[in-house]
Amino acid sequence: MLFLLIVLCFVVCIIVAWPSNRKTKLINKFNGPPALPLLGNGLLCLTIKKEDMLLTAKDYCEKYGSAFRLWFVNDAYVIINDPKYIEVILNNTNNIEKGLFYNTLKSWLNNGLLISTGSKWQYRRKLLTSAFHFKILEDSLQTFNKNSQFLVKQLLKSNENLIEIEPLISRCTLDMICEAAMGVSLSDLSDKGEEYVKAINRVSNLIMCRMVSPWLWNDWIYYLTSNGREYFKILSILHNFTKMIIKERKQRKTSDHSRKEKQQLKTFLDCLLDLNETDPDMLNFEGIKEEVDTFMFEGHDTSAAAISSAIFILGHNPNIQELLFKELDEVFGDSDRGVTMEDLNQLSYLDRVIKEVLRLFPSVPALMRKIQSDIQLGHEENIIPPTTNVTILPYVLHRNPKYYPDPEKFNPDRFLPEEIQKRHPFAYIPFSAGPRNCIGQKFAKIEIKVVLSSILRKMRVQSITKLNEVKPEPGVILKSAAPYIVQLIPRK
Ligand code: HEM
Repeated sequence: MLFLLIVLCFVVCIIVAWPSNRKTKLINKFNGPPALPLLGNGLLCLTIKKEDMLLTAKDYCEKYGSAFRLWFVNDAYVIINDPKYIEVILNNTNNIEKGLFYNTLKSWLNNGLLISTGSKWQYRRKLLTSAFHFKILEDSLQTFNKNSQFLVKQLLKSNENLIEIEPLISRCTLDMICEAAMGVSLSDLSDKGEEYVKAINRVSNLIMCRMVSPWLWNDWIYYLTSNGREYFKILSILHNFTKMIIKERKQRKTSDHSRKEKQQLKTFLDCLLDLNETDPDMLNFEGIKEEVDTFMFEGHDTSAAAISSAIFILGHNPNIQELLFKELDEVFGDSDRGVTMEDLNQLSYLDRVIKEVLRLFPSVPALMRKIQSDIQLGHEENIIPPTTNVTILPYVLHRNPKYYPDPEKFNPDRFLPEEIQKRHPFAYIPFSAGPRNCIGQKFAKIEIKVVLSSILRKMRVQSITKLNEVKPEPGVILKSAAPYIVQLIPRK
């Protein structure tokens, strides 16, 4: 029955939306692997393992050049891998709509900043940029220090036994964004906090699987599967939690106000509640909810992926760790004090290490835009017509030997100022670029620096998982197919 339904939907899709002739002709001017009638290159999704998808995309970029096409049934994709074409796409202010890929997030994040478009996105982006101002970042430093110190204690307890690092880091960054965005500590909420942590981890995994299975992108079809039903059940836990926190924070704000108590740190959510108070039409309760959900998701998994990859790769590069220890000891001596904003400016080697980590392990491995009006790539004849899903793969771009000789080698000196100057600015885009770049990048850079410096002041890392065991799994967030197993050895 399920199979018949899927086949029926499939046929209807093909009949209703078979692409116009002009679009087909324009897309087929691009190089690309042979496409079957009707199915296009759809079999790729069924035949390639998840952990081989990005590597296959890399092979295709080498084989078919810096812009090539794929068809998935009647949806056209143009994958671009040349910084000058990427600049044309990402800087284009008319083409800000996200591609099909993101529809899978819609039932969770609704029209939050990550997936909204048009005037709604423009308006919110302005609003949220001011809500996420420098003072919030400065205030978040306290939260980062507190949670990093807690993490270090936990890691020291591992007693040099082998541990999987990612789940511990992920819990730490979830606590950080929750405190910074909502002003609540998950551990203070006992059962509800734990339930939320489990739900957010499970939903992230389900989304990863769904993203690489285009036949499950439709909500109705997804609901027919057991994963789909589980997904929608868990979504209600996440949404109810966000609603509960917003209501509580609102109540606390009102009672603090009436008692004329000085509020503690002003969080992202407080700024949104202020906006809601001054002009409820500008930002209503639903609006606050979708933005808090968006920031909770984008704000924790991305940083956790970056920090975990950093620890893993440093565990394979003892010489680079030594250089980091030297810099950290110069700045902090053997003190236990927290990190300050001034310290962050002095940690220039750590800065280069993080940039190099995000080159090899960009937390967001794929970006997509649904084209609204014809786009010409440079002086080339090729035109990308409307409704094409243009795909940019930072994971592949950052491994182009033209910009990064010996690309698999971990070498932070690629980010010395004189080296950066030699490259096209769009050859490095871990936070995307242009109008829809990452709004949280300053927050993330501070957070990653605080966590990594706190760990490396106290311990050295040895990676047990081998480099060749780590294969990239695509999804919204880059994950490794093999867990990062490490050993942490106290430095003193
Ligand atoms: C290492 C950490 C991070 C990386 C590598 C990263 C990367 C990115 C990238 C590549 C995009 C563009 C996505 C796209 O076009 O589909 C993006 C967008 C976004 N990021 Fe981040 N991000 C990080 C951390 C954060 C944090 C900590 C927050 C929130 C506190 C955040 C919030 C957002 C939001 C809301 C958007 C959507 C912006 C818009 O469309 O206007 N990100 N991020």
